[in-house]
Amino acid sequence: MKNIAVIYWSDGGNVEVLANSIIKGAEGEGAKVAAKHVQDAKVGDVTSADAVAFGSPSLDNNKIEQDYMAPFIKEFKLIPLQGKKVVLFGSYGWDEGKFLKDWKKTVEDYGFKVVGELAVKEAPTDDELKKAEELGKLLAK
Ligand SMILES: Cc1cc2nc3c(=O)[nH]c(=O)nc-3n(C[C@H](O)[C@H](O)[C@H](O)COP(=O)(O)O)c2cc1C
Repeated sequence: MKNIAVIYWSDGGNVEVLANSIIKGAEGEGAKVAAKHVQDAKVGDVTSADAVAFGSPSLDNNKIEQDYMAPFIKEFKLIPLQGKKVVLFGSYGWDEGKFLKDWKKTVEDYGFKVVGELAVKEAPTDDELKKAEELGKLLAK
């Protein structure tokens, strides 16, 4: 059984509903999922997981959330990750997903292997929720 960590930040709930679909997809494939708000997450939640999903909105001039998510991600700069599988997901108002492209570069620099990404405009559509569920399944395989 795969251990999956889903770690995200959400204020208005758009990122949270994506997280819930990823969790549903992963659990549907028989994975054990630990879902946490990034405020409660520890480095060990990521290092001990087989695969991880990180979620954030675009905030603060097209960047991931800066008070909790950005410093949490930075903790992995010097930690050996050996290509740990990661899915990045999030929601934006107007940047068309630029924040997520930049985020991808950062986590790849740190040694994660990005196996999937999903950026949606504001609240996800039903189709986008299905895509999120597929990403959860992918992590569990
Ligand atoms: C204070 C604030 C700042 C924001 N800044 C940006 C931004 O810089 N670029 C962007 O594309 N969207 C921006 N947005 C839109 C959010 O990314 C979008 O509403 C997202 O769906 C929020 O996710 P959540 O509901 O999970 O909190 C901002 C929203 C708020 C409330």
